[in-house]
Amino acid sequence: MISKKMNEVFNGQVNAELYSSYLYLSMSTWFSEKSLSGFASWMRAQAQEELFHSIKIIDYILERGGSIQLDTIEKPEGDWSSALEVIQETADHEAKVTGLINGLVDVALEERDHAANIFLQWFVAEQVEEESTVGEVVEKLKMIGDASAGMFHMDMEMGKRVFTPPAE
Ligand code: FEO
Repeated sequence: MISKKMNEVFNGQVNAELYSSYLYLSMSTWFSEKSLSGFASWMRAQAQEELFHSIKIIDYILERGGSIQLDTIEKPEGDWSSALEVIQETADHEAKVTGLINGLVDVALEERDHAANIFLQWFVAEQVEEESTVGEVVEKLKMIGDASAGMFHMDMEMGKRVFTPPAE
């Protein structure tokens, strides 16, 4: 059985993952409106991935005999000045999420909840991958600058990403 404290912080993380999904969906629609359909599709896959993360945590809470408390999801931002600004915000957001996951690991260690600690290691590794992927997109966009040919090519590259739920 999961402790009250551990259950509470996992519930908080469900909300954080749902907010991430909501934010990325908002970014995806912004890209669509700017006719950057590759970026829009990449962001939609990102939103789907975050929804998957929240459900993964929900399933874990249930498996451990805990209870789910779904809370209000904060309204996401909806306007940005450039693709670089959007992706930079994504990178900053992912860094924040990494901090949250590390906080959950701290609680698992305090509570001596070894099962939760093992479960959270998947998210620790996932954050390393996410920060690296988004960081690379930021760097490429900085390289491209105002070059429209580069942006056209990048949009096509971004459109190749397809969301496939990771194996459990
Ligand atoms: Fe659920 Fe992008 O971390």
